[in-house]
Amino acid sequence: MPTVLETDRLSLREFTEDDAELLFALDTDPDVMRFIGPFMPKNVDESRQKIRSWIDKYYSTGRGLGIWAAVEKSTGAFLGWFCLRPGCDWMFAHLSGWGPDDLELGYRLHKAAWGKGYATEASRAIVRKAFDELNAKRIVSSALLSNVASWRVMEKVGLKRVQQFPLPGYDSPDVTYLLTRLEYRLQAASEAP
Ligand SMILES: CC(C)(COP(=O)(O)OP(=O)(O)OC[C@H]1O[C@@H](n2cnc3c(N)ncnc32)[C@H](O)[C@@H]1OP(=O)(O)O)[C@@H](O)C(=O)NCCC(=O)NCCS
Repeated sequence: MPTVLETDRLSLREFTEDDAELLFALDTDPDVMRFIGPFMPKNVDESRQKIRSWIDKYYSTGRGLGIWAAVEKSTGAFLGWFCLRPGCDWMFAHLSGWGPDDLELGYRLHKAAWGKGYATEASRAIVRKAFDELNAKRIVSSALLSNVASWRVMEKVGLKRVQQFPLPGYDSPDVTYLLTRLEYRLQAASEAP
């Protein structure tokens, strides 16, 4: 299980099929899925299949992209996942206008991990990696407008809201966020000592 990224408190590593039960527990918690939608797996095998068919494919692209398991360093606990993947892979990318150069930042954590700044901490590191190491042009992200915690993370790591539009099948509109490489460089320069 190669480690992909480390922050002060978190380690991001690749998923393996052995994580199927952990992923199943995360994806079947109604509170976790509240703003995501009706995508709950029916059983652990379905989660294993998701790791095989959906998650594994990113690791073999050699682009440094992926959906990575987040582990709390101090306890070794599985907290959930973060992702950096082609924006066009989002099922509603045709509505958001994301193009082939866009990389999407995403996250999903267990309730016990919420409110500790973990999503902000890992997302900041992913954004840095995307621009500094992977030569990303633009980072994009999206959430339901009602999912305040999610879009607050985007804002805290420097993404700017660009649009709001109705999402088919959802009560809340969706908001999309964006950070260009130039904006990232300007932010980094303004934060430099
Ligand atoms: C979205 C999620 C990853 C945020 O994780 P987190 O580690 O709790 O986020 P952070 O601790 O870094 O907090 C980020 C900001 O959101 C704020 N926030 C957190 N929960 C909030 C809530 N329910 N309402 C309003 N603001 C909230 C925090 O206060 C913080 O802002 P602040 O520093 O200005 O106070 C987590 O809530 C989650 O996994 N939710 C379920 C899955 C999900 O919805 N994923 C996103 C799909 S688009």
